[in-house]
Amino acid sequence: MAGSGTAHLRHDQPRALTVDDLVVEFPVAGGTVHAVSNLHLDLLPGETLGILGESGCGKSSAGRAVMQLPPPTAGTVTLGDVELTGLKEKEMRRARARMQLVLQDPVSALNPRRKVKDLVVEGLEIWGWGERDQRGKDAFVDELLTAVGLDPEVVRERRPHELSGGQCQRVCIARSLALDPDVLICDEPVSSLDVSVQAQILNLLEQARERYRLSMVFIAHDVAVVKNISDRVMVMYLGKTCEVLPSDGLERTALHPYTRLLLDSVPRESDAERRGEPAKAVELPSPIDPPSGCRFRTRCPLATDRCAAEEPQLRELRPGQFVACHHVEA
Ligand SMILES: Nc1ncnc2c1ncn2[C@@H]1O[C@H](COP(=O)(O)OP(=O)(O)O)[C@@H](O)[C@H]1O
Ligand code: SF4
Ligand SMILES: [Mg+2]
Repeated sequence: MAGSGTAHLRHDQPRALTVDDLVVEFPVAGGTVHAVSNLHLDLLPGETLGILGESGCGKSSAGRAVMQLPPPTAGTVTLGDVELTGLKEKEMRRARARMQLVLQDPVSALNPRRKVKDLVVEGLEIWGWGERDQRGKDAFVDELLTAVGLDPEVVRERRPHELSGGQCQRVCIARSLALDPDVLICDEPVSSLDVSVQAQILNLLEQARERYRLSMVFIAHDVAVVKNISDRVMVMYLGKTCEVLPSDGLERTALHPYTRLLLDSVPRESDAERRGEPAKAVELPSPIDPPSGCRFRTRCPLATDRCAAEEPQLRELRPGQFVACHHVEA
């Protein structure tokens, strides 16, 4: 969306996560930041949904609101068949443990004073071990560390500052997996890592998704990263959805002018050190006073008067491909 709509939702299929009409606003001096406006998404069991867009377009606000950290300004979040926004505090915290968040900066996500073996089970100490204690803490920790590609003998007794950024991200992923979540929300999980380490962490997430039967929301500004790990990609601009499409062949099939702009600004393979930069260094319009109609219109080469007057709705232009634009056709 630089538009709105629900055409892309799959009401006839079981869904791991459903987000309806999500709104995230921040009151600030001079007005209200419209970080996320009327976002709808769904996630099938075992699916990875990529959320793609430039910095500032509302990706992290959406991810945090789905986690109820903090709860959204409006809208509903349904995990399996449990609607979270209506839950009382205790039930909410328990339901929320079924969703885990993996963040961009793994080093600051970890308590620097604790050892890896304790960090991995921090969540379980809060939530209780349940059936997991049968195996014993050490065996459980070692199994998880091995699953995320770390040698327990080497890292078990270490603290975060004795690990690389990639190793810290592996510990964060292990810690999330310890809680046996249904849904993993990854917010730019490889953006702070060296390019050579990024692929390893993406592989690890892919393996974890299969092994632990997870569904994933994968947020990033880098088209190549999102495309590789996702089944389906949602492109956001200034708090709205522009396009939802299968990731396969996305660089050829994308139709929305904003998705095209993101793809055209992807650096060439030879320009390796630029990978990971935001798509285009153009200032976004203010989210305090977003453009009327289609929010992308101030940057769109196809914009007409209609785009200022009327908000485009998502339309299915090809099977499985939904585009919020008045003027593009398949
Ligand atoms: N706590 C906050 N208070 C005020 N504005 C915020 C806050 N968090 C995010 N924003 C604003 O909301 C918009 C979306 O931010 P964010 O969700 O972080 O985008 P992204 O993750 O896509 O970079 C930005 O304009 C950002 O400045
Ligand atoms: S043509 Fe109009 S509706 Fe389509 S993306 Fe451009 S401004 Fe938005
Ligand atoms: Mg962000």
